[in-house]
Amino acid sequence: MISFTPSTQVFHLQGETYSYFMQVRNGILTHLYWGDKLPDADISLLIPETKAYASFDSDYNRLPYEVPTQEKGYFSQRALNILNAQGDDVLSLRYQGHRILPGKKALPALPAAYAENDAETLEIDLRDDLTHVLVTLSYTVYQGFDVLCRSLQIKNEGTAPLRIANVQEACVFLPKGEYDMLHLKGSHCRERHVLRSALPRGSFSLDSRRGASGHENNPFLAVMERNADEHKGQVYAMTHVYSGSFRLSVDTSIDDRPIMMLGMNPDVFSWHLEAGESFQSPEALLVYSAQGLNGMSQRFHKFIRKRICRGTWRDAPRPILVNNWEATYFGFNEEKLLEIARRGAEIGCELFVMDDGWFGKRDTDNCSLGDWVVDQKKLPNGLKPLGEKLNALGLQFGIWFEPEMVSPDSELYRAHPDWCLHVDGRDRTQARQQLILDMGRREVQDYIIQAVCSVLESANITYVKWDMNRNMTEAFSCVLPAHRKLESQHRYMLGLYRVLEEITSRFPHVLFESCSGGGGRFDCGMLYYMPQTWTSDDTDAYERIGIQYGTSMVYPCSAMGAHVSVVPNHQTNRITPFETRCNVALGGNFGFELDLSKLSDEDTQKAKAAVQLVKELRTVLQQGTFSRLIDPSRHDNLASWQFVSEDEDQVVVCLYQRRVKPNMQPERVYLANLQPHARYRLEGTEEVYSGAALMHIGLSVPHTWRDYESWVFRFRKV
Ligand code: DGJ
Repeated sequence: MISFTPSTQVFHLQGETYSYFMQVRNGILTHLYWGDKLPDADISLLIPETKAYASFDSDYNRLPYEVPTQEKGYFSQRALNILNAQGDDVLSLRYQGHRILPGKKALPALPAAYAENDAETLEIDLRDDLTHVLVTLSYTVYQGFDVLCRSLQIKNEGTAPLRIANVQEACVFLPKGEYDMLHLKGSHCRERHVLRSALPRGSFSLDSRRGASGHENNPFLAVMERNADEHKGQVYAMTHVYSGSFRLSVDTSIDDRPIMMLGMNPDVFSWHLEAGESFQSPEALLVYSAQGLNGMSQRFHKFIRKRICRGTWRDAPRPILVNNWEATYFGFNEEKLLEIARRGAEIGCELFVMDDGWFGKRDTDNCSLGDWVVDQKKLPNGLKPLGEKLNALGLQFGIWFEPEMVSPDSELYRAHPDWCLHVDGRDRTQARQQLILDMGRREVQDYIIQAVCSVLESANITYVKWDMNRNMTEAFSCVLPAHRKLESQHRYMLGLYRVLEEITSRFPHVLFESCSGGGGRFDCGMLYYMPQTWTSDDTDAYERIGIQYGTSMVYPCSAMGAHVSVVPNHQTNRITPFETRCNVALGGNFGFELDLSKLSDEDTQKAKAAVQLVKELRTVLQQGTFSRLIDPSRHDNLASWQFVSEDEDQVVVCLYQRRVKPNMQPERVYLANLQPHARYRLEGTEEVYSGAALMHIGLSVPHTWRDYESWVFRFRKV
């Protein structure tokens, strides 16, 4: 998978369908190629010609550095800025040696992709001899997965401290061309909407400074050929295994080549590195697809499902749940919860989740975060008997926490007012009337571990919703000295990851779902600990189509929580048919988030049928190959996606229509990824079609008189 040719000094990283070439030129590690898989023999074509004309720009400005720094005549954006004892950040990194190793090492204190005897790793040492900075680049290539993992470690081999002011763990010079870029933009309740635009010839960046990946910009960017679409064209994409602030950027080289970078956000990051110390960057995941955006997403999905998500729940069918949040908000007691649970059990749900409001004196969102002790007023019998009653109904018991937060009105805050992120002499800005605990502090981490574990030990709890409902302001730790203050955000993430590792490994049977005001922390860092994420607080079926469509660019459906809620919808006041709410929710981990005891008999029957359908299709939905068919941001009335089972025998097509329009020619949905010569029967009918016909003639959108109509078509190979 990885080779090095000493005569040309060329590295070739060969994935299943891609090649990535680098070359050492005069000691400088340069990028040669990232694209379709090539045989080794062709490398001579890749070696660039030397320039034959004089220029005011030095050759260094044309060099496609693997790790661009401030040196000689390089003027484009830098991947590393390290301030040395003299106060400058000139860094001439030169090749020292490399190792090709079997497998993949874990990253110290950070989540990262793992290997199962199916990977090879290349480590390349680059060194600046004046400042004694050693940078070790790490590239992992997999068998059976088309994702290239990339990270770097910086070691201070000198005697004086250094300050790392900027770390971009991935940097790639793309070929010159006409490109579009695509990213996922949003806000609370409007997460991950697809935005596609022309790639500017200049500089562009997507940032989070929030101390979380955030609702606003997901840590993902695709740069693609102008004519690429869901099914065809070259796409270069990046995301990373990190949940904090980030920067994803594209600069344009002097030769008009886009330079794609991903790393820490330098506005809110700096790291003091003492002599002998090392700093580990997060890990970037790079995907190249020549099969358009679906090809890109399928590569991400498979990898995230199998080499980011871990543990008991990685491959297990995810339970169908009922959550009481939109049913009761804070106004519940044991009797009310059991009333909803009973109806859930009757229609076939498998898990009941008690959301916010069960602890302290939390009747509203202005208090008690940090006091993880059951509210005797609401639950006089405590958690254990509630769990037993749920188990007796045939339901598992799940519970909500927001462990990283503290309410100013809480016992915890009164006891430890300095445990939150803050700046002395300034207001502690509240959001949702809460502050953020300083997760970088060991005593805070230990408190959270102890508090969460003792609740989990107190009852038969098998699911946790781990929420985080605000972003960082005054994001500084009061225990760090001035020269380390800008380390606070990253130290928070390292502390959070320690807590998550500790808790999730103590309770391997518990299914953890992460949440952040809906999908404000939907990233591979969280998915490493928790294999699913609550996609959005917007449960409106119509809005959810766009949100889930965008989320699927990177993240598999098995990572997305999706629930059926009441109408008029609480976020939009929109009324959509019950079946459509179910048909949208089955595009993720299916559940209900409404008072099932108030459902009409008719809707109860529909709910029961939906649960039955999800149970029948669950393996296909959670482990099948997902393709997007019609993009709701580009079509004025339709959206569609499709699943093909791992054995390719079953096909599930979901189709959503927004409005009934008069006098319309029926539209068509063209299936994807089928075997052209295989024959597929539409379930419930005797209709049999070839894969080629379904892909090229397509299915006609049925006529309906209802707005927000939807259909689920099931095909089986005959
Ligand atoms: C935000 C989450 O996204 C909701 O689902 C719910 O759990 C609330 N927090 C509870 O405060």
